[in-house]
Amino acid sequence: MKREFLTVIAVIAAMCPQAAVSQSDDPDGRAARIEAQMTDDERYALLWGYMPLPSRLGPAPTPEGVKPSAGYFPPIPRLRFPGLHETDASLGITNPNQLRRNDTATALPSGLALAATFDPVLAERAGRMIGSEARAKGFNVLLAGGVNLTRDWFGGRNFEYLGEDPLLAGLMGGSSIRGIQSQNVVSTAKHFVLNAQETARHSVNARISEAALRESDLLAFQIALEVGQPGSIMCAYNKVNGVSGCGNDWLLNGVLRKDWGYKGWVMSDWGATHGPADIVNGLDQESGAQLDKQVWFDKPLKDSIAAGQIPKGVLSQSVRRILRSVYAVGADFPLAERPIDDQADSEVALQIARQGIVLLKNDNLLPLNNTPRRILVVGRYADRGVWSGGGSSQVTPNGGPSVRLPYGGSGFLNVNGFQVLAASSPLAELRKRLPNATIEFDTGYDPGLAAARAAKADIVIAFVSKWQVETLDSASLALPEGQDTLIDNLVSANPHTVVVLETGNPVAMPWLEKTGAVIQAWYSGQRGGEAIAEVLSGQVNPSGRLPMTFPRDAAQAPRSQVPGLGMPDDGTPLVVSYIEGADVGYRWYASKGFDPLFPFGFGLSYTQFRHDGLRVRSSGATATASVTVSNIGARAGADVPQLYLVAINGKPVRRLVGFSRVELQQGEGKPVSFAIDPRLLADWSPQGWTINGGTYEFAVGHSATQLEARVAVRLSRRCFKP
Ligand code: GLC
Repeated sequence: MKREFLTVIAVIAAMCPQAAVSQSDDPDGRAARIEAQMTDDERYALLWGYMPLPSRLGPAPTPEGVKPSAGYFPPIPRLRFPGLHETDASLGITNPNQLRRNDTATALPSGLALAATFDPVLAERAGRMIGSEARAKGFNVLLAGGVNLTRDWFGGRNFEYLGEDPLLAGLMGGSSIRGIQSQNVVSTAKHFVLNAQETARHSVNARISEAALRESDLLAFQIALEVGQPGSIMCAYNKVNGVSGCGNDWLLNGVLRKDWGYKGWVMSDWGATHGPADIVNGLDQESGAQLDKQVWFDKPLKDSIAAGQIPKGVLSQSVRRILRSVYAVGADFPLAERPIDDQADSEVALQIARQGIVLLKNDNLLPLNNTPRRILVVGRYADRGVWSGGGSSQVTPNGGPSVRLPYGGSGFLNVNGFQVLAASSPLAELRKRLPNATIEFDTGYDPGLAAARAAKADIVIAFVSKWQVETLDSASLALPEGQDTLIDNLVSANPHTVVVLETGNPVAMPWLEKTGAVIQAWYSGQRGGEAIAEVLSGQVNPSGRLPMTFPRDAAQAPRSQVPGLGMPDDGTPLVVSYIEGADVGYRWYASKGFDPLFPFGFGLSYTQFRHDGLRVRSSGATATASVTVSNIGARAGADVPQLYLVAINGKPVRRLVGFSRVELQQGEGKPVSFAIDPRLLADWSPQGWTINGGTYEFAVGHSATQLEARVAVRLSRRCFKP
């Protein structure tokens, strides 16, 4: 890990001279020298902090001139330390409750939309953009890098995350983190670990075997850490096998530090610290202390140290971890605000939306050509904008929300109180791209009226949505607010109906067979309306692939209902046993022989692709593979060939071991190669990873269930450390 950090420093030194550090001044050495000069008061001021909020929102005395945000730790001017100025999150720079007047930011599409691009290069570009906006707004820590696996169809924060597969989530999350930190802003990776549901999130006890956890959620974090080298890890609210995530010695000191060699710092989630002993168990910093029962890392910690119950050395240890990350990333820059090119930044949001849209069905209805005809656009504020998810990742989009619906809720900050739409109107954008068509709009409020109008149209485009929000899981796979009835009415009146999904999770589609086409647009961000119109009109050829399985019904899933649904988050114990173990998502459906509604990795195109000549070669302890991808259709497009391990010594398995997004002109063919991470071929045991050896069968495919010719290769047995 240290070698990579030195590489990072060399790059930063080359890029931003003011952050340059001499080779002899490595982050650890510098951290030790600075920490040694600190007073204990200065040390404690780094180990716990309040969310800096106006006094009307709580007891936290926010120093004069400190802007409201997610977190603040004061500067130490005499040591040229700028302090920590923290903001959320992976989808852009937030402004909780608009406490910073008129402070808006570029709103990225959801994490699921980014994951659906299967494009780590784009993820890094997105990270660079939000990292630069964080820095321009005077922040040097971005609480991003959500890489929790989307284990359940109901997870309230799935829209923030990067899907159900550890390779995809780890590579996409790590690339985003690398982009953020290239702007000298520390990124987190979160929420460590197995924070898979929102219901009773402070008291859930997630139970899973170590081997299963190592091969799934921990592997996603491990890959993200290797790729992105986040300066900080945010530990999660929930327990893991009976021990709180932020006081879990095995997770924080064992796995993260001893096994993985992690040298950054562990911050708690906001209100996830439970006592001074957490610092001994691996937690370095108490965040959002006003949400804790008391401030643990101040007087209680001082008393425990004074009583000899906790060694005083923990202070220096934790402070050095914080300082070394700040120095390694070059985040000790003077926090001067600077202008942002909103238009340029929004191009990243547009590109993610374009590449993340998944064409799920198309009975020759799409793309819509610009012929004179009647088109009826129906529903869900499609005349006003595009949906986004709620909670701490909610960005107030540039130009302000076009719609802000009070959702209710109460309590601290009430970040979940509003449903927000970005002002990017699909209707307006369709009218620009189809000027010869007559395009009318119906709100969909009255299904009967909408159906009567649909009967008179040539094409109907129905926008439906499912809002998701931090702290709440979905109780049902169904679309809410009678939207299924609306679609039923529309398709009965006119089968030439296109359904546009704006959801933060998989949804059931009882009307699927009766529709002409379906696209999944996710929460499509600052310029989502444009991207949707570009795909519907054929200006853009859709290339998204599902990062999450869409089950036919909840009974197919490991959990058909939210454990503890409706329970208050008051500490009442709730055990969730993850019976699927490492068989998350498509692996579960394959192991059970279930045929989902739409499989992981699925997505159609306006052209067609073929995969030929899969070759797999054993290369020492792992394997490499190659395949030729050809565009055999009538227009340019992008394919995402996926390589899966499908059997070991004849025993069926299903593991994504490689993917690549490749752009192809009509008639063009390209070779694609995959270097397979040996951990994906191995099983985990307390001795580490073991490739058992024998015959390993691979197949390339268009999704986890559309697999083509298999190729077998012999691999030798091999064991290697975590
Ligand atoms: C929240 C979230 C976390 C966020 C933090 C600060 O509760 O769990 O993702 O970064 O608090 O807003």
